[in-house]
Amino acid sequence: MAFYYNEPSRTFSEYLLIPNKTSKECQPQNVSLRTPLVRFKRGETPALHLNMPLASAIMQSVSDHNMAIALARSGGISFVFCSQPIESQADMVRRVKKFKAGFVASDSNLRPDQTLHDVVAQMKRTGHSTIPITDDGTPNGTLMGILTSRDFRPHRADLKAPISNFMTPLAKLKYGREGISLSEANDMIWDHKLNCLPIVNDEGKLRYLVFRKDYDQHRENPEELVDAHKRLVVGAGINSRDYKERVPALVEAGADILCVDSSDGYTEWQFETIRYIKDTYGDSVRVGGGNVVEEEGFRYLVEAGADFVKVGVGPGSICITREQKGIGRGQASAVIEVAKARDALYNETGLYVPICSDGGLLLDYHVVLALAMGADFVMQGRYFARFDESPGRKLRVRGNFMKEYWGEGSDRARNWQRYDVGGDGGLSFEEGVDAYVPYAGRLKDNVEITTTKIKSTMCNCGALSIADLHRNARITLVSATSIREGGAHDVVLKESDRATEP
Ligand code: IMP
Repeated sequence: MAFYYNEPSRTFSEYLLIPNKTSKECQPQNVSLRTPLVRFKRGETPALHLNMPLASAIMQSVSDHNMAIALARSGGISFVFCSQPIESQADMVRRVKKFKAGFVASDSNLRPDQTLHDVVAQMKRTGHSTIPITDDGTPNGTLMGILTSRDFRPHRADLKAPISNFMTPLAKLKYGREGISLSEANDMIWDHKLNCLPIVNDEGKLRYLVFRKDYDQHRENPEELVDAHKRLVVGAGINSRDYKERVPALVEAGADILCVDSSDGYTEWQFETIRYIKDTYGDSVRVGGGNVVEEEGFRYLVEAGADFVKVGVGPGSICITREQKGIGRGQASAVIEVAKARDALYNETGLYVPICSDGGLLLDYHVVLALAMGADFVMQGRYFARFDESPGRKLRVRGNFMKEYWGEGSDRARNWQRYDVGGDGGLSFEEGVDAYVPYAGRLKDNVEITTTKIKSTMCNCGALSIADLHRNARITLVSATSIREGGAHDVVLKESDRATEP
């Protein structure tokens, strides 16, 4: 006979936190959101941690190099999506590791012999108004000059004329040498009234551009997540098929941690993948596993050697796995059980394996609940897909700005490795949808609001750290009627367009 769980599967909206005593030192500025990312033994410090407990989902529509840079600068981590060829994923990882605040790698270059027609087309395509001209038109070719939208009048100039007739040639150009600091570059920008300062190496090859408009974005960010060489930390997704080729390429590119991306992690394929990485690289390569929703799956992946375990089957906003296949578990119930298993393992063996609650976090308070229930950090897709830095297009839908957001199991992503369990048959039905999410602006601004809310709730709970919250949180189930009591009720709202977004 089948095994039946006694409790129904529950989700975050069914719970609330009960305030604990808030001491005077319990103020948001004293709260630390630092949290372990990889397994460690009692008394040891984890080899990797996050400065705030947010990770972006392993998805085409969420985690590319731009997202990874923005999120690491705010203290969290992205796992660059793996539903792409190995080399392009490794290239994204490389871009994050090479990132230097304020120094932008140029991606719209032309040759001096190309025409103004090419310039107009380039500007239209990229939206950039500054085009570096290099000998071979590549981003790191020898710098020959710069052409900006102020150097020619598109409707008057002969668009067949060569760029060399209009560009500011190198001889008349102010440029910096590689190795210059950001503040020195900014001094040059101000002293010479420039909008853009190209940076070249000793051989005259273009390395970066520094823009005036970016100046105030490059203030030091105290939460920035960096490695021992002050490079941003980045993760990368892998699958349980091509890992023998993908893992070495990602390691070579500089990925700090990997994560097996699977909707069901309690499988022999996943066990073998993690085991192979640990047997080959030991602890020099870190890898998370998942997703699981109960104790046995958690223990299985820990035994394989997983550095962290991701929790969640079916809660994602774009996910239709439960509808399609009838598998899954309410995300709160899953986190509660796996956190219990994690704590039991720690008490038995002194080994702490962090857990990540993945998907289904609709409101900011759901993040605090997931943490209070025992998650060490959370992974989100929809939340991050709304920001400027996500890869999806921004477009106007019925009068509102939206960003595209599609599931890895959707036809669009065609991530066959993730949803096709064995065999070479490919994707026979979809487990995710292709959708829009309301556009929400810059990551940094939104993450600041979210973390401020998290810290504020933690103060209500008398917790100065996530470990305090794990130990001391008091959580209650809420009845359907009291959920109604929680929102604005029995009043007539002045704004009818009150958003349901966090
Ligand atoms: P969200 O934060 O609620 O949008 O959920 C994001 C999570 O959904 C991801 O981290 C994945 O675990 C999961 N996911 C991504 N794509 C799909 C899909 O196509 N079907 C089901 N789950 C998905």
